[in-house]
Amino acid sequence: MKFTDSTINNCSLIQFNRIHNRAGNITALNELVDVRFKVKRVYYLYDVPGGEERGGHAHKKLKQLIIAASGSFDIILDDGKQETIFHLNRPYFGLIIVPGIWREIKNFSSGSICLVLASELYNAKDYIRNKSLFTKWKLKS
Ligand code: TYD
Repeated sequence: MKFTDSTINNCSLIQFNRIHNRAGNITALNELVDVRFKVKRVYYLYDVPGGEERGGHAHKKLKQLIIAASGSFDIILDDGKQETIFHLNRPYFGLIIVPGIWREIKNFSSGSICLVLASELYNAKDYIRNKSLFTKWKLKS
């Protein structure tokens, strides 16, 4: 699918397995099964100061799975036509974001960790950072 054609309906919140015992929990993510794409990169946001916002861009090719590994935050998705907010607050939920979706991440709780599994290596050229250009491309398609 071209990045201009994707909608927020192509993004999904997934509940992962939880292996529970009295000593705590394990969640295991298997490539192409739970994650749904091949993972080339893992990164995480941490020590985000209170009130700060991250994101503010879309990607042309990159697929991502975002998990609140600790704490909580909100992810606002926008496909140029509609907007949805996901509140992530459990490490056994993950939000799949397909290419061509504008995202903002805000309301980070203190000490939260935003874990991101990504389908591509870092590439600055894959970013769309101009919101009005993004909206124009999405409305044209
Ligand atoms: P950016 O993706 O804009 O962060 P966020 O969406 O969380 O606000 O990246 C911030 C900076 O970090 C930018 O200069 C690029 C750099 N960066 C890398 O070098 N490698 C990476 O894998 C990522 C995600 C970012």
